[in-house]
Order: sequence, then C-alpha cells, then structure tokens
Amino acid sequence: MNPVKVGLLGLGTVGSGTANVLARNAGEISRRAGRGIIVTHAASRSLRSSINDTSGIKFTTDPQDVVDDPEISVVCELMGGYEPARALVLRAIANGKHVVTANKALIARHGNEIFALAREKGVMVAFEAAVGGGIPIIKAIREGLAGNRIEWLAGIINGTGNFILTEMRDKGRDFADVLAEAQALGYAEADPTFDVEGIDAAHKLTILASIAFGIPLQFDKVYTEGISRITREDVAYAEQLGYRIKHLGLARATPAGIELRVHPTLIPERRLIANVDGVMNAVLVKGDAVGPTLYYGAGAGAEPTGSAVVADLVDVVRTLTTDPNNRVPHLAFQPDALSSQPVLPVDEIVTAYYLRLRAADKPGVLADVTRIFAEAGISIESILQKEPPAGSPDATVIILTQRVRERQMNGAIARIEALDSITGAVTRIRLEHLNSN
Ligand code: NDP
Ligand code: HSE
Repeated sequence: MNPVKVGLLGLGTVGSGTANVLARNAGEISRRAGRGIIVTHAASRSLRSSINDTSGIKFTTDPQDVVDDPEISVVCELMGGYEPARALVLRAIANGKHVVTANKALIARHGNEIFALAREKGVMVAFEAAVGGGIPIIKAIREGLAGNRIEWLAGIINGTGNFILTEMRDKGRDFADVLAEAQALGYAEADPTFDVEGIDAAHKLTILASIAFGIPLQFDKVYTEGISRITREDVAYAEQLGYRIKHLGLARATPAGIELRVHPTLIPERRLIANVDGVMNAVLVKGDAVGPTLYYGAGAGAEPTGSAVVADLVDVVRTLTTDPNNRVPHLAFQPDALSSQPVLPVDEIVTAYYLRLRAADKPGVLADVTRIFAEAGISIESILQKEPPAGSPDATVIILTQRVRERQMNGAIARIEALDSITGAVTRIRLEHLNSN
C-alpha cells in the first residue's frame, strides 16, 4: 500500500521533532499503522528547521500551499497561536484532510467550531500533543478510563512553569534567568506570559475537563492565576510545614457544578505529584471505579511532543477506512450527549488555604485573627509564628486552614486586612491534599 502523505505547518521545536521521530522510527511506525507515514510537504515563515533528513520534503513559506495540496491526506498544524492556525485548520478540514495538532490554544478556544466542521466532513482532528507533551493523557482519559465517572483531576500541565519553580527552589536561581533557559530549550510558548501567567495551563485544563466530564470546551470560565507572584519566602515556609508549591490545574465535579481552576497550590510533600520536577508533567485522575491514577512524563520538548504527534498520526492512519460515525468522538463523549453542568465561579470553589500575614508583635493580635476565622466558620489547621527580623515591628504569621468556600475566605481576609495590627495584604495560596477521596 502507498504511504500516507503528511504536510507539516510549522518547522520549529515540535515540527522538527515530529519529522525526526517519523523518519527515525519509520519501520516500527509502519508496522503499527499498517502503512508508511511520510512527510512530503512542510511550511514555515523562514524555512529554518532542525529536521535531520529533508530529502523528499517540498518546502514552502505559504502554509496554504500545504493545506490545498491534493496529495496530502493529513495536515499537522504545529505553528501555534489562534490565527492563522484556525483558518488553516478549517480550510484543511473543508478540503477533506485529517488534522493533527499540538495547539492547545487553538483547541481550547476554537475546538467546538473545529470539531463540528470535522464531523460534517467526516475527518479526524487529533490533539494528543496539546496536553502534557509526550504523556498520552488524552487517550488515557478518553479511552482507557471510558468506564468511569471521573470525579476530579489535577495536573502539573505546564513544563516551563514547573521547570522555573524547580530551579528556583533547588538552585535559588532567578525567575527571569530560568525562563530564558526554558525558552532556549524550546519549552516555552511563543509568548512566554502564556506559561508564567497560567494561560497555557488553562488551555490544557479546558481540554482535559471537556473529555473528563463530557462538557463543551469553555476556556473563558477557567479561573487562572500564574506563578509570577510566588516568592522564595512562601516556598520555604511551605517546605517547613511539609508542603511543596506546584502550579496546578484542577477540575472537580461537585453537585453544584464543575470547578475549573489553575493556580499555585500547596501539596503535601509525600504525594508523588509534589515530587514532579523540572520540565516533567503529571496528571492525577480520580475515577469512581478505578480510583486514583497518575500519568507522568516530559511535558514539553521536541521529541517527547513529537512522540504524541506521531501517535496521533498512527491513530489517524489506522482509522482512515473506518466509518466516520463509528470513530472515537473528538471530546470522548458523543457530541449530542454533552452535559450542560455549569462551571462554578471561583468564589464558589471549596479548598484549603495557606495564608501569610504580617502582624504587629504584641498581645491580642492573633486572638483577633482567630476570632475572625471562628466567626466566618473557618477551621484553622495550624499556625506558625516567626519572630520579627531585627529592627522590624512585625512578625510573620503563617496559617493553614481546613477546606472552606472561597467566598467565606474572601470575607475573612478582608476583615483581617482591615485590622490596625495587620500590615499590607494577606498572601493566600490554595492548598489541596489530593488524597484519594
Ligand atoms: P516554534 O516557535 O518552535 O515553531 C513554530 C513554527 O511555526 C516555526 O517553524 C514558525 O516559522 C512557524 N510559523 C509560525 N507562524 C507561522 C505563520 N504564520 N506562517 C508560517 N509559519 C509559521 O513553536 P513550537 O514548535 O514550540 O510549538 C508549536 C505548537 O506546539 C504550539 O501550538 C505549541 O503550543 C505546541 N506545543 C509545543 C510544545 C513544546 O515543547 N515546544 C509542546 C507541546 C505543544 P518561523 O520559525 O520561520 O517563524
Ligand atoms: N509551553 C508549554 C509548556 C509547551 O511549557 O508546557 C508544552 O505544551
């Protein structure tokens, strides 16, 4: 049988990694897919690439040449960004081509539109590389856990952010310096604020939540906080209390609706996920039947991501001849069976907290603070008071609370900040035990 011809849009980190994995493992891949898979066309603005063997590839600076070429069966969109990626993907689908993409921004924002057109045209759109780099997390949730009602999932789903936090903690390096290294290694997004402000993780959480709970993609409803305000001080206090600070995406089904949130989170250091360091990602998924499961691997980088893109290509090629109506649905659930469960606003979420405050070092101050918590119905788990540094009138107080609705916590923090004996704003970091409940 003739090999399946693939056109690449984008020849950067992922485009080059994909082409290199496809070429190096061509024999194994064709034994798995039942046919060879070869790159015949490739587009990028500058035509720069790190592809090892360019023989047989037609290069162009115009991505439309690839999308419109009748020879090509599968288009791999590895450019990134919303536009022109969206327009090119829609055009490829309209031309009857299958699409593989690593672009989580595109899927999170425009996936509903893209999948609708793909269903109409009977083509596949595969996006394993969009979440967790090389970890096959989409396939695991969509297919491996298909017998379960998913209760919650929590993941370290941005490699750049985890790399920065790890290097800052282990080596005391500066934020900006580590970010520059992540960019040089090809981990960061074209706009790295997507990594450090949590937008990239929110894109990925949108996708995970959709396939876990059978809800439409709703990126705009994810509560998003990045890592740029985490201080070394908080990292050190968290460690003294037996926790690690990780940037976590968390989706939880509750009777009132779905929590969708991305933020720095204290996690007990004994949890495996608290020990996921560097560019590695991990996703914990709790199903009602299987219990907690954990998926771990490289969250970014050329060949780990290429591994996921190639797996999608093999999947597409295996199903080229199947009835389009009997394929695995794009978002795991049948499109006419999606749920309308609401996504909860952030002040309705329930979580525990780490709070750091600066309090006058005099009698009665802690009593005022604990009284406010008691009146708000918030239980304190532990309190740690640090002596004021020489010359400072203020002591640092760290408080860990039990789980409480965020609205109640907001009210208590406002009252604490209004006390004369408290200086400045209260620092708050959410805390999750991630036990098997
Ligand atoms: P790069 O910036 O390394 O590569 C992007 C490529 O697309 C370059 O070849 C660039 O060309 C080309 N390109 C961008 N815009 C255009 C355009 N308008 N016309 C033609 N060519 C264009 O990005 P990555 O490889 O890192 O990322 C690609 C996608 O994969 C993104 O969606 C990203 O989020 C996703 N991803 C990335 C991972 C990683 O580890 N890097 C991991 C998982 C997903 P030129 O260089 O000439 O400008
Ligand atoms: N910028 C992303 C990250 C790439 O660092 O996780 C992988 O999606």
